[in-house]
Amino acid sequence: MQLSIVVPTYNEAPNVPELVRRVALAVRDVEAEIVFVDDSSDDTPRVIAEIAKTAPIPVRLIHREHATGGLGGAVVAGFTAAESDVCVVMDGDLQHPPEDIPALLHRYRRGDVDLVVASRYVGDGDASGLADRSRVLVSRGSTMLTKAMFPIKLKDVTDPMTGFFLVDRRTIDLDTLRPRGFKILLEILARKVMRVAEMPFRFADRHAGESKASFAQGLHFLAQLTALRFGKMSAFAIIGGLGAIANLLIMWGLIHLGVEYIVAAIVSAEITIVANFLLQERFVFQDMRGSASSGVWSRFMKAGLFNNLELVVRIPVIALLVNTWHIQSVIAAGITLAVAFVVRFVFNSLVVYRP
Ligand code: GDD
Ligand code: MN
Repeated sequence: MQLSIVVPTYNEAPNVPELVRRVALAVRDVEAEIVFVDDSSDDTPRVIAEIAKTAPIPVRLIHREHATGGLGGAVVAGFTAAESDVCVVMDGDLQHPPEDIPALLHRYRRGDVDLVVASRYVGDGDASGLADRSRVLVSRGSTMLTKAMFPIKLKDVTDPMTGFFLVDRRTIDLDTLRPRGFKILLEILARKVMRVAEMPFRFADRHAGESKASFAQGLHFLAQLTALRFGKMSAFAIIGGLGAIANLLIMWGLIHLGVEYIVAAIVSAEITIVANFLLQERFVFQDMRGSASSGVWSRFMKAGLFNNLELVVRIPVIALLVNTWHIQSVIAAGITLAVAFVVRFVFNSLVVYRP
């Protein structure tokens, strides 16, 4: 097998027949297969299985019942299952023209790169398939932010968020990838310096159905970016910081509603503790959840107990710092918060999410 074409699908039934037809035609001169990695809840797997019987090239289906990592996780599963080391990744909705696959392969075969990126932003590439102006702005803005954060590794890449590329899987360390959300290429590029070439392509309109991109995917992307750049700790810090602000706002609101300030402080702290737990489950430790030895309720209890304990311990420590060390009270509170933050992070990583 010379080429494996990995296609992640989530409810793309009406697109599958046309995709297979156009891919098979485009790669008729290459020994190639299509590997669908499907997390659908509709009849996409049935449609794929049906097509596989008559398709002119091998079509394989990996249907995942307990999917992890969303689109990114699906692509990694595709790499693992692929027959060929040379893999093309493309969407299942025909926004990525199959007719461009031979050009990607041709560029790769010159032998000087590990990765060929199909870019909307180079040469006569085109992002017109982005449904509306707001998505164009989001795409442009997030591309700039990403390039600013990885100036060296993304030096030669104009479109680190594209979902259309060719990669030699021997040049990536599959075990180090922590796929979450949509941006699998970014995950690959940010982990390791790769030899990259780009080719322009026209991002077409969707053949059928709707985009699965969402606001939650945007949050995943920001979490991914910070985690890749600064490690988990910074994602944890951002969520902790947002929690602290929410805590104060809720407390302020409750006091305005006439609640006594001690009660307001306790209620707002507890709400924040619960909200922080939910957010860290989803955006900080999402890749450790599956392998954690304790279930979600047990994790919730451990994290909650720790945070309450921390609240109780911090007060006498502040008093101690102020009275015996004569540190100014706000600075003393700041010191306890900083120490508590680090201890809380370590506790969560090593205890709450212990494998
Ligand atoms: N297996 C699997 N699991 N596939 C998924 C999942 C999932 O959870 N979510 C989405 N997909 C599949 C879709 O079925 C489609 O084939 C492909 O991933 C891309 O999803 P779309 O819903 O079409 O996303 P998009 O067009 O908004 O985003 C595409 O373009 C972006 C650039 O603007 C993707 O290629 C993004 O990666 C890319 O950044
Ligand atoms: Mn799409």
